[in-house]
Amino acid sequence: MATKGKLMTRQALLAHCEEEMKLIRPIFKKDDVVVEFGCGLGGNMIAASGHVQEVIGIDINPFYIWHARRLSRRYPNCRFKSFEGKKLPFADASVDAVYSWAVFERIPKPAVEAYLREFNRILKPQGRSAIYLLRPEAKETGFTRLLGEGAYIYFEREEVEALMANCGFTIEQFIGWPAAHVCLAEKSVA
Ligand SMILES: C[S@@+](CC[C@H](N)C(=O)[O-])C[C@H]1O[C@@H](n2cnc3c(N)ncnc32)[C@H](O)[C@@H]1O
Repeated sequence: MATKGKLMTRQALLAHCEEEMKLIRPIFKKDDVVVEFGCGLGGNMIAASGHVQEVIGIDINPFYIWHARRLSRRYPNCRFKSFEGKKLPFADASVDAVYSWAVFERIPKPAVEAYLREFNRILKPQGRSAIYLLRPEAKETGFTRLLGEGAYIYFEREEVEALMANCGFTIEQFIGWPAAHVCLAEKSVA
């Protein structure tokens, strides 16, 4: 299985996702309906599924959804919705949490902002969000070796703070990795 930038067995992928999800899990509550934006093969959804009521994956690429459905077939609380790329397929204030991992690193900044506004729209009051954005330091970590530095979008911490505030979020926690910011946030009170 080719994923996370290398070939992995199913077992290795799920172990890897388990580790990543430890960072995101603080935003989950047991009864939550959670959305993963850009779910890929669904490994993170499987890792999330034991901690929430339901995880719904969306991805712009139907090929990934097809594989994610197969990979998660033994996890009945993992579901999928098709997504045409702009408006998230959920009603206003209808989900408890939305997260995204390793997706915004290749999406232009104005589109990232538009998606974060969508995250805010679909979240219930006090809903929670976790996002992963590349830091400029990623250029020195070898993370970008596959496609080259120019293929990725980087955010300074101050930019993330302004972006989240503009999109209606209050940042609860910033986890600085060598290559990425992992930002946990809550929907701001209107
Ligand atoms: C590097 S993969 C990460 C998958 C998964 N989040 C993970 O960490 O294993 C990036 C995923 O984002 C999806 N993606 C890219 N642009 C997207 C968009 N505009 N809307 C939804 N999904 C998108 C891709 O199709 C791909 O499945």
